[in-house]
Formats: sequence, structure tokens, C-alpha cells
Amino acid sequence: MSEVIKIEGGHKLSGTVRVSGAKNATVALIPAAVLADGVVTIFGIPTISDVDALATLLRELNTDVSVFEDHIIVDTKNIKNTPLVSPAVGKLRASYYFMGALLGRYKEVTIKLPGGCDFGPRPIDLHLKGFESLGAKISFDEEGLCHIKAKRLVGKRIYLDFASVGATINIMLAAVRAEGRTIIENAAKEPEIIDVANLLTKMGARIRGAGTNTITIDGVDHLSGCYHEIIPDRIEAGTFLIIAAACSKRMVIDNVIPQHLDALISKLEEMGVDMEQVGDSIIVYGNDRGLSAVDIKTQVYPGLATDLQQPMCALLTQANGRSTIHETIYQTRFKQCDQLNLMGAKTSYDPPMAYIEGPTPLTGTDVSATDLRCGAAMIVAGLVAKGVTTIHNVYHIDRGYDGIERKLIALGARIWRETYEDEE
Ligand code: EPZ
Repeated sequence: MSEVIKIEGGHKLSGTVRVSGAKNATVALIPAAVLADGVVTIFGIPTISDVDALATLLRELNTDVSVFEDHIIVDTKNIKNTPLVSPAVGKLRASYYFMGALLGRYKEVTIKLPGGCDFGPRPIDLHLKGFESLGAKISFDEEGLCHIKAKRLVGKRIYLDFASVGATINIMLAAVRAEGRTIIENAAKEPEIIDVANLLTKMGARIRGAGTNTITIDGVDHLSGCYHEIIPDRIEAGTFLIIAAACSKRMVIDNVIPQHLDALISKLEEMGVDMEQVGDSIIVYGNDRGLSAVDIKTQVYPGLATDLQQPMCALLTQANGRSTIHETIYQTRFKQCDQLNLMGAKTSYDPPMAYIEGPTPLTGTDVSATDLRCGAAMIVAGLVAKGVTTIHNVYHIDRGYDGIERKLIALGARIWRETYEDEE
């Protein structure tokens, strides 16, 4: 059985939408919990399938896990360092955070390589080099399992060749239980890194500088349980800002940290979108004057997030003139262009660039959520298109968007899910 999402486009949206907890923080915070001796309670958990996969992996490690509507409780009293080899590892990229967390706790981990969205090469060499710098030896067996083992983990100065989000977090997870001081230079500065550092600090870790490009970690012997509240999801918030810019009369996006979205907000303003920030909400007013084409360039935080590039591409099909996208993080992340063209868009790409001629009327047809944020792009396009858009491979969307249909229906969208038998 497979599911599709169907959208009847062309309806103006209005109302208030509340943003959920940040997926890309959640998927690191949950593995981080294995570092604690005690009970870790994390509030603000989004209801997404990545959380289910991580809970499965925690259960394979013999931890007691309870997942509730908005929080998760992880108790490590019976934890065992079991090799993580089940299909759940391959369901998401963030299973790699068990590398750093288990290495920190046990000095040893065996794990399959992670899965996740396929939009081009996604190496983890910087993670592995970081573990090696701390004293670990790494090997791969014939089955492709990764073995990481250290006699001792000893703090080191580690310079990242690229400010990788995953490598920064993974090295931090291993270093909190290493002997002595680790300094991560050219660290990534994304808000999710600060969130993970905050959780670890509440557990008893000694971390300074998270959110800057130099993070200093003084290892400790013991970490304990704690309570933690996840930051709001800036990518979900950004997706709703883009949806509002595409088709709303007046939309209030609530539970937002506006400065996390500075780069997107200024691009939307450049396009002619009227917005107002009120506390932790952003109000987007409808734009009847038409949107202007813009040039965008994805960059590490605080630049424009690559995760918003794909839904922005869908919005740019509605802007007047020729827009360009320069994708500097994942240079081939353009699968949404092929799907948008099926709906009548005029886009082309020659990585790392994409070009969008607008405005083009879009017409509903069968399209695929080839990856999570391509799925977000298809939702934006489906909401503005004439007729019904059928989005296939919706499991990608379910990995990262909490209650997307429920939230859009409350805003007045016509969106629903259908199940069908797979052909043999
Ligand atoms: C995180 O992926 C996010 N995933 C991605 O979000 C996001 O697109 C990305 O950061 C960039 O912001 C999670 O947090 C689970 P990186 P990550 O390491 O950590 C290169 C979404 O849609 N690189 O910062 O894997 C890499 O190829 C997902 O929610 C290496 O060369 O990203 C890329 O060009 C998709 N070697 C760049 O660094 C390495 O060892 C940035 O990757 C690691 C990365």
C-alpha cells in the first residue's frame, strides 16, 4: 500500500499556524540522550517518522523509551552497546549521531552507514576524521558495517575543512566524555548546534562557544538526566512563510524565532512580500501587486538555508522575471525542478545553478516528493496550481513535516491523503 497527498490548488489561505519543534535538532537530541546516566525528557518533539526510527534504534540499545504526543522520555538504566544494523539505521541520515554518542559513552560503536534524502553525494569523512583525531580507529567490514573504537578518547584541536552541521554535532557528542579539552574550529553555527549543546550542558557537559565558529569542550566523566525543550523548526517556519507568500490573504506563523530566518525574510521582502514580526510570530500579508524575481544563494547559517532552497524554487515560478539559485551546500539539490516542470514551470539547472522563468501558471498533475524538501516544493506548487496535484512518495514529507495536512486544512487548503494498492 502507498499513500499520496492530493491538493486542489488555487484557494487563498488565512489563519494561524503553529510551528513544531525543530526536526534537525530533534534527530540529534534523541541520540544524545544515550550519553546520560539517568532519564532524559525532551519536550516539543515533532510527530515525524524520523522520531519513530530513532526510538526504534534506542530500543535496540535496550533503553526504555516512551514517545508521547509532544515529548519523549529516554531512560538509559538498562542500555547495552548493541551493534546498530537494523533497517531503521538506513531510514534517516541522523542515525549517524549514534556514532558520536556511543563512542563518547562506550569508546566503541558498530553501526551501518546512514540513509536519508538522496540529492547528491553526502560524505561523512569529516565526522570520521574528527573521531580519529580524538583517538578512535575506524574500519569497515565486508558487510559495510562501520566499526569505531578507541582505547582512550583524548581531547584535541580539530579544524573542519567545511563547517558541517553533522560533523560539528557528532564530534561534540564524542568529545563531551573525552579526556581533556577539544576545540572544534570552523564549527558550524546553525541554531540546532546550540540546542544540542544546551541539552548536553544540562546533562553536565562543559561546552563553550556553540553558535560561534569555535566550540570548546572540556570532557567530563559523567552525564546525568535532564529536561529539555526543543527550539522551533526554522525550516518548517520558512516553508510556511513561503506558502504564505505564494497564496495567503493573511497568515500568522506562530512559535518562530524570527532571527533564525533573517536571510529568508530579507529575500521575501526583496520579492515584495509584506511581513511583520510580532514577538515570536511572523504575520505575512497577501501580495496583490505580484512578486519580483530574485537571485538566491544558499549558505551556511546565518545564510539562506539549503533546506529552504527547494520550496523557494516553487515560489519563484510565480515571480515576475528570471530568478537564479546558486546552491553552494549541496550542488545538485535540484530534483524539484524536474517535478515543477511537469506542472508547467520553466526551470532549468546546471549545478550549482538553477534558473527559473516566471511567472508561469502551474497545472496539477502527478509529481513525486523525490526527497523531503522537494516534497515541500511540491506542496507549495500544488497550493498555487490549477486543478489537483497528486504527490507520490509522501513518506519523505512525513519524515520532516509534523501534521502538514492538518495544519494546511486549518488554513483553508484543500488537501487530503489517499491510499492505493501498489502495482506488482
Ligand atoms: C544537515 O545535514 C541537515 N540534516 C540537512 O537537512 C541540511 O541540509 C544540512 O545540514 C545543511 O544545513 C540534519 O541535520 C539531519 P552538513 P548534514 O554536514 O549535517 C559536506 C533536511 O532537509 N560534508 O552540514 O549532513 C556535505 O557534502 C536535511 O532537513 C562533507 O564533505 O549536512 C555538504 O556539501 C537534508 N563531509 C556540506 O558539507 C562531511 O563529512 C554540508 O553538509 C560532512 C559534510
